[in-house]
Amino acid sequence: MKQLTLSIIGCGNRGTIYATLASQSPERYKLIAAADPSPARADRIRQLSNNSDFKVFPSADDFLAENQLSDMVIISTQDQYHYDPCVKALEKGYDVLLEKPIAPSLEEIVDLQRLAERLGRKLQVCYVLRYTPFYRKVKELVDSDIIGDIISINANEGVLPWHQAHSFVRGKWRRADQSTPMIVAKCCHDTDIIQWLIGRKCRSVSSYGALTYFVNTNAPKDAPERCTDGCPHADSCHYNAVRYASDMREPWLELVYDNHDTASAEEIVEWLKTSDFGRCVFRCDNDVVDHQVVGMEFEGDATANLTMTAFETGRSIEIFGTQGCLKGGFFLKKNTGKDIIVTPWDGPVREYVVSEDTTGDHHMGGDKGIIGALYDEMTGDGYPVSSYIQSHIMAYAAEESRTGGRKIDLDEFAEAIAERS
Ligand SMILES: NC(=O)c1ccc[n+]([C@@H]2O[C@H](COP(=O)([O-])OP(=O)(O)OC[C@H]3O[C@@H](n4cnc5c(N)ncnc54)[C@H](O)[C@@H]3O)[C@@H](O)[C@H]2O)c1
Repeated sequence: MKQLTLSIIGCGNRGTIYATLASQSPERYKLIAAADPSPARADRIRQLSNNSDFKVFPSADDFLAENQLSDMVIISTQDQYHYDPCVKALEKGYDVLLEKPIAPSLEEIVDLQRLAERLGRKLQVCYVLRYTPFYRKVKELVDSDIIGDIISINANEGVLPWHQAHSFVRGKWRRADQSTPMIVAKCCHDTDIIQWLIGRKCRSVSSYGALTYFVNTNAPKDAPERCTDGCPHADSCHYNAVRYASDMREPWLELVYDNHDTASAEEIVEWLKTSDFGRCVFRCDNDVVDHQVVGMEFEGDATANLTMTAFETGRSIEIFGTQGCLKGGFFLKKNTGKDIIVTPWDGPVREYVVSEDTTGDHHMGGDKGIIGALYDEMTGDGYPVSSYIQSHIMAYAAEESRTGGRKIDLDEFAEAIAERS
């Protein structure tokens, strides 16, 4: 078996997870280089590589100025900096595994698709949920016809209140102009899974949603700008940032604080005094929604509804078919221990436990799954780029519907984008 050589651009949280998983399969992957302005983060990948010739670069540009160094590159920089390194990497000869969302505009997404197709490169997107044991089982059951033809789907993405505050109020995805709209950032996964399960093209979407709770007007009058400024509500506020130094240290601190494993509680509180993550959740500059619904209509008249909300935990799905219904996900697991329950209209109820251990993987085993599948996909045919684009079109169209207050026809929407690209 020939090793697939790979390099990492953007060695933050996601880049480190992928490099760690790849380093655990040395028979298939060899880490060659890393690029990140933070020397400590790039060096973390070097240490994982077990490669004395490993190269470190201070930026994507420096790495991409060299001749091609590896078979492929993983691009895991922030949302607004995917397009540029991806174009350069494809032109340089690299196949690419690109973090989602592909890019902050559909024009750039269409551009990347055309470029990858013209150059004959593989361009895969980190749709980790497709690789989870849970969604693979759901797909297998749906494809087995156990519930007949899908008529409608009801899906929930429960972001989790603390996660909302961490990422979408205080954190990196709090402003659409600095990242992407939340329905794209958080739920292009969900539009992907829904269309993958239904297996037909989405014709139109309608969407509603708003930022309702994490707003300045909800701040108690006597709450200071920062939780470290002696807030009188510190003991009763769920979002007290000082919890980063105690019960919320795991798993959140490591996502945003390089010295998370060695820092003392006092050092963390000191950091919170100036960091974005120390701010009162009602006094931030966030503008992305905290709840949004998307209605979808598919070819063959199948329909789907997706609710993304800060105020629930985990993903759940209900699939209603002509021969029965399937329910599964976080709520069921937490309350019954089962992952999936299928109720056929005739015949016994069937319960499924997806046995694979996914502890420690924030994506239900999807991070491990995608790196497990990457070798075959990159050395084989891979997926056509077009199969990733549709879910982004659906998510961007949902945002257009929410902000414009109208139903969006997806063919018209995609044609307008293609003309502008
Ligand atoms: N697939 C998923 O489910 C999933 C989950 C979370 C995040 N993401 C996406 O993954 C991406 C990365 O997220 P993250 O949480 O790892 O972010 P991060 O901020 O932890 O990491 C980004 C890294 O890019 C580096 N960087 C900045 N400029 C650079 C440059 N010019 N050249 C090279 N590196 C540069 C930063 O220093 C940082 O280390 C984002 O687009 C995010 O939306 C995807």
